[in-house]
Amino acid sequence: MVDNSRNIRFAKVALKDQGFKVKKSWQMSRNGKNALTKDPAYNAVNPNHFIPMIDEERYGDRSDAFDKIISATHKHFWDPNDKKYLDYDQPFDTENEHIVDPGIFCLELSVPNIANKLDEKQKIKLNNESFRFVLSQILHGEQGALSLSASLCHVLKDPGAQEYAANQTREEARHVTGFTKYIQARWGKPYKVGPTLGRVLENIVSSDVVYKKIVGMQMLIEGLAMGAFAMAHEDTRDPLLQTLLKYVMSDEAFHHKFGKIWADRTIPKLSKSEHNKVEDWAETLFVDLLFNLINPWEKKEIYQSVGLDHKFVMKEMFAYIDESEVVKQEMKKTNNIFRVLVKTLLKAHIITDRTKATYAEFVDMEELNNEDDTVAGQELADEGVRRLSIINAGKKVA
Ligand SMILES: [Fe+2]
Ligand SMILES: [Fe+2]
Repeated sequence: MVDNSRNIRFAKVALKDQGFKVKKSWQMSRNGKNALTKDPAYNAVNPNHFIPMIDEERYGDRSDAFDKIISATHKHFWDPNDKKYLDYDQPFDTENEHIVDPGIFCLELSVPNIANKLDEKQKIKLNNESFRFVLSQILHGEQGALSLSASLCHVLKDPGAQEYAANQTREEARHVTGFTKYIQARWGKPYKVGPTLGRVLENIVSSDVVYKKIVGMQMLIEGLAMGAFAMAHEDTRDPLLQTLLKYVMSDEAFHHKFGKIWADRTIPKLSKSEHNKVEDWAETLFVDLLFNLINPWEKKEIYQSVGLDHKFVMKEMFAYIDESEVVKQEMKKTNNIFRVLVKTLLKAHIITDRTKATYAEFVDMEELNNEDDTVAGQELADEGVRRLSIINAGKKVA
C-alpha cells in the first residue's frame, strides 16, 4: 500500500502557502492600486489571481445595489440578428442621399471655401463618409465597452456587481453586432479606429484600476455615446438607423446608471488627493476625446476620396470657425455631444473649480448646473424600452 500521508501533508502546506500568497496580493491590490474603493460593492481583486474569486465567503457577500438594473434587462431585450427587431435589408441610397443632415457630423460642408470645391454628389459622399467614420468610431467604442465590462468581471469581487458587469458585456456584444451589421449594410466595412480613440480605449480597457475603468468607460465614453446617439437619431434620414439607435440607447441608459451609482457611493467619500486623481483622469480623457472628433487629421483618407487636401481643409476650417457665427452655432450643436458627458461629470461632482475652465470652453457650465440630472436621450431610451416590451410580448413586429 502506498503511503500518501506525506504527499497530502505536502499538498496542505502548499495550499496554505498559496492561500497566503493570494491573500497578500489581494490585499495589495485592494490597498494599493485600487485604493479608491469606498463602497464594498466595488471591492476589487487582482485579476491575475483567480483563487480569491472562489473564496466561499465571497458568494454570500452580495450587494443589492444593482439588482433593479440587472432584472430590468429582460424588458429591453433585443436581438440584432432577428428581423422581428431590425430589418437590415431596408435599402438606403448612400450615393445619392444624405444619411444625416449635412453640417452636424460634417462641419466641413458649412465652410463655403470647402463646399464650393465640391459638386452635389461629392458633398453627399463627404457627408456620408464622415458619418461612416463617426459610426466606425462608435463601433470601436462598443468593442471597448464589451472588453471593459468583461474585464470588470475579473476585477470586481462583489457577486452582484459582477453579475451586472456580465450583463453589460452581453448587451455591449449586441451593440457590436448591431453596428457591424448596419455598417456592412450601408458601406461594407468600418473605418479603422482613430489614433486618439484607440489610445484612450487601450488605456482604460487594459488598466486594472477600477476608478479609471468606471470613470473612463461608464461616465466618459458612455456619456459621449449617449450624446452622439441622441444627435444622430435626431438628424438621420435612415429609419433603420433610427430604430437601431433607439434600441442601443435603451441599453445604454442602464449602463449610465451603473456609473452614477458608483459615483454617488464613491465621490463624496474621497479625500482631497483622491478626488484630484479622479478629476485629473476625467479631464485628461475629455481633452483627448475632444480631439478625436474635431481633428481633421483623423479624416485625411475621407478628404482624399473627394479630392480635397487635408491641410487645406484644416486651414479653411480653423479660419472659418474664428470668424463665422454660423459655424459657432453648429459647433454649439456638435458640442451637445460633449454636453452630455460634461453634465454627467458635473452632476457626479467630479468637476470642481480646479478643472472647470477646461470644460467651460466648450459648454455653458452655469446652464448645466441648473439642469436636473436626467441623461440626454433618456426619453428616447424609454421609448425604446416600451417598443421592445411590446415586441417581446409577441404583440408586434418592428
Ligand atoms: Fe454600448
Ligand atoms: Fe454601454
